[in-house]
Amino acid sequence: MQRTLVKDAHNSTEPRDSILLQGWVRTRRDSKTFSFVELNDGSCLKGMQIIVQNTLPDYEALMHKAGTGASISVGGKLVASQGAGQKWEVLADTFEIIGEADASYPLQKKGHTLEFLREIAHLRPRSNLFGAVFRVRSRLAYAIHQFFQERGYFYVHTPVITASDCEGAGEMFRVSTLDADKPPRAEDGSVDFARDFFERQSFLTVSGQLEAETFACALSNVYTFGPTFRAENSNTSRHAAEFWMIEPESAFLDLFGNMDLAESFVKHLVADAREHCAADLEFFGKFVDKGLNARLDFVMQRPFQRCSYTEAIEILEKSGRKWEHPVKWGDNMQSEHERFLAEEHFKCPVTVYDYPKTLKPFYMRVNDDGKTVRAMDVLVPGIGEIIGGSQREERLDVLRENMAAHGLAEKDYWWYLDLRKYGTVPHSGFGMGFERMLMFVTGVANIRDVIPFARTPGSADF
Ligand code: 4AD
Ligand code: MG
Repeated sequence: MQRTLVKDAHNSTEPRDSILLQGWVRTRRDSKTFSFVELNDGSCLKGMQIIVQNTLPDYEALMHKAGTGASISVGGKLVASQGAGQKWEVLADTFEIIGEADASYPLQKKGHTLEFLREIAHLRPRSNLFGAVFRVRSRLAYAIHQFFQERGYFYVHTPVITASDCEGAGEMFRVSTLDADKPPRAEDGSVDFARDFFERQSFLTVSGQLEAETFACALSNVYTFGPTFRAENSNTSRHAAEFWMIEPESAFLDLFGNMDLAESFVKHLVADAREHCAADLEFFGKFVDKGLNARLDFVMQRPFQRCSYTEAIEILEKSGRKWEHPVKWGDNMQSEHERFLAEEHFKCPVTVYDYPKTLKPFYMRVNDDGKTVRAMDVLVPGIGEIIGGSQREERLDVLRENMAAHGLAEKDYWWYLDLRKYGTVPHSGFGMGFERMLMFVTGVANIRDVIPFARTPGSADF
C-alpha cells in the first residue's frame, strides 16, 4: 500500500478503510485497553493520533518500543475522531516499529532551550518549532522564484568563487589549494598566489551582484538566489558567515522603481506565507512572538515609509534619545538607530535612501550633490536592515573616479567597466538576506535558528 502523508490525511474529506502512515512517535499515552500514539511525519505541524488496541498481536512489546523518537509504520482506518482538536484519527490494524529510539533520545520533553537545540541541529527539525521554520523556509524559497518569474525576471546562477570584493569590505573567505604550511613565495617574500589554483587570489563571494549586472545589461531583468559568505567577526543575532541572498537586477530602472520592487517583494513573501503556511504562522504567533500576525497584517496593508539618510539623521538627533553609538551625519547607522526608525518613529518598514558616498561601495550612482549616493536600505521592525540596494553608476568616467577613490585597480574590473563602455544603461538592484526575511516572517529572533546548519564565528559543526 502507498504511504499517505499526515497532512493529506488531515485534509481527507471522508473516512478511509485503509491508510498507511509512516513517521516518528512524538508522544504515547497508555490506558487499560489501548494506547494513543501521536505520529508526526513533518509534512505539517500537526501529528496524527493513532489508536492501538491491546488486542493487536504483540501489543505490549510493541508499545514498549514505541517511545518518543521511534520510527513507525502504521496501517489502519481513518475515522472521525471522538476527541477534540482533530477531525480524524487512525485505528491501527498493523503497527510496525522501523527504528527504535531509547531513553537517551534528546527530544524527550517539551521546553528545551533554543541554545540546547542548536547543539543537536541534526535532530531539531523533528521539533515543532524547527519543523515549522523549515517548512516556511522551503515555501518562501518557492515564492521568491514565483515572484520574479511572474514578472519576467530570469534566474542567473552567479559564481560562488570569485576574485572580486563586491562590497569592498574585505570580509572574504579565501579559496586556495596552496599548502598552508609552506606556501610558494614571490621574490619579495609575499605568498605567490600566481601559483595558486586560479593563478590569482580568489574568495567565496559576498554577493552575486556584479555578475548579475552583466546579465541585466543583456536580458534586462534578472535575479540570483544563492549562498553568500562574509568573514565578518560579528557575533550578533542577525549575522551569519554563510547566508542566502536574493538579488534582482533591473535594466532601465531607477532607485525609486527599485524601492517599489523591493516593497512588492516583501509584501508578496508575507502574503504567501500567510496563505500557505497558516498553521505554522499560528504556531509562531502563539509560542514565539505574540504580536507576529498583527504585525504581518499591518505590513501588508500599509505602504512602506521612505526617508532620506539626511532626514533619518535629523529624526534621530531630535528624538531626545540617549544612544549607545552617537548619531552623526556621515556615520553608519547602527542597529539601535535602524530599529528606532522602524519600530518607534515610523512604526512600519521604512526605506532609507541617499546615503553618504563614503559609507557605500564603489558601484553606487553618485548624486548631483557629490556627497551622497543612490543607495537604499529597507529597515523593518524587530530586525533592522533586511534589504540593501542601489541604483548603479552607469557613467564610465564617474565609475572610474569612484574605483580610484576606493583603491580598486581597473585591470581587475575590466569586464565590469565594459558594461559602461558598451551600451551602458541606468540600472538598479538590491539584495535581500533570506534569513533576515525569515526572521521577520516567523518572529524567530536569532539567525542561527532559521538556517539549517548555522555558520558563525567559531562554529561550523554539522
Ligand atoms: O547590504 P548588503 O551588503 O548588499 C549587498 O551585498 C549588495 N551587493 C546587494 C545588491 O545590491 N545586489 O547585503 C544585502 C542584505 C542585507 O540587507 C542583509 O539582509 C543581508 O544581505 N546580509 C546578511 N544576512 C546575514 N548575515 C550577514 N552577515 C549579512 N550581511 C548582509
Ligand atoms: Mg547593507
